[in-house]
Amino acid sequence: MTRALTFLGIESSCDDTAAAVVRHRPGAAPDILSSVVEGQTALHAAFGGVVPEIAARAHAERLDLCVEAALEKAGLRLTDLDGIAVTAGPGLIGGVLSGVMLAKGLSAASGLPMVGVNHLAGHALTPRLTDGVAFPYLMLLVSGGHCQFLIAKGVEDYQRLGGTIDDAPGEAFDKTAKLLALPQPGGPSVQAEATLGDARRFAFPRPLLDRAGCDMSFSGLKTALLRARDALVAEKGGITLQDRRDLCAGFQAAVADVLAEKSRRALETYLTLAPEQPVLAVAGGVAANTAIRARLTALCAQMGVQFLAPPLSLCTDNAAMIAWAGMERFRTGARDDFTLAARPRWPLDQTAAPMIGSGKKGAKA
Ligand code: KG4
Ligand code: ZN
Repeated sequence: MTRALTFLGIESSCDDTAAAVVRHRPGAAPDILSSVVEGQTALHAAFGGVVPEIAARAHAERLDLCVEAALEKAGLRLTDLDGIAVTAGPGLIGGVLSGVMLAKGLSAASGLPMVGVNHLAGHALTPRLTDGVAFPYLMLLVSGGHCQFLIAKGVEDYQRLGGTIDDAPGEAFDKTAKLLALPQPGGPSVQAEATLGDARRFAFPRPLLDRAGCDMSFSGLKTALLRARDALVAEKGGITLQDRRDLCAGFQAAVADVLAEKSRRALETYLTLAPEQPVLAVAGGVAANTAIRARLTALCAQMGVQFLAPPLSLCTDNAAMIAWAGMERFRTGARDDFTLAARPRWPLDQTAAPMIGSGKKGAKA
């Protein structure tokens, strides 16, 4: 490894406007000198989902202020940096463009090198930022827009073992919350209700468990929940607080069962390829779910696999992971120039069959 590096990271691919400064001295653990994340939940609340135009405008208005705040918190100026990393996709194109344009402007003004980062690589490389894990490792990326198993083999080398064929689990949590009049984002509110509910009362499906492999499906679950809710309403004219808790508990248990069983299969495949590195890491907002974490922790203990779950603030969207991924790319010699494009779709494993449909972050990657 070479010299110490200090990078600014910029993230604006969905509904979080974020900037961060990360420093890494070879041989030492990386330092997150600052990490500023401005969520847009309040701006989208009235619409029950992320509105791309509103997101793009908010990023354009706030991103430079976030960068200023991140530099100030780190006690640094632009001239103290070694480079700028920016999410160049996949995501909602207006937001990604805001970030890429800002990075180009900063790079042109300062002369600093610029590195475009795949948002998914930012999540996938987070275990190296937090735990210094070596390649390869198995990654479960599970968020509002994504759900896939990836073998991380190198900074630019990923093998996709499977993923959702429709909704991402975070999307399913968000839609469930909407159906039950709970606040967005749905994950934390459904989880809070679920802890008070009886998961056995409603028999929700475990989609695709009967099919071999690691692909998953979550959209049917939300339909099953809608039917259960409507049956209660037809029967009693409404649902009680306890009904709602039980529905949430049943839904969460179904998601956890599917993720645990598919993770077991992904691990089996991974361990035949890389028995010397038995590691499963998670990232993405849904990895914040305590019930899902508990299931994955137990699974890994059972299979003799090390389980890595980054702190919650680094599981959800943030710019520290982008600064880190940019630094990792930079160390491999990667540089981008002013032709760097914003990409709505950008799969990490270019050889895997493309995902269909679109989630809250736009086209599925
Ligand atoms: O990774 P993230 O911040 O953004 C995306 O890239 O999508 O993930 C946000 C998603 C939302 O759908 C949110 O409902 C979900 O993660 N989430 C959770 C929890 N906390 C956040 N889902 C389940 N349980 C949670 N505790
Ligand atoms: Zn994300």
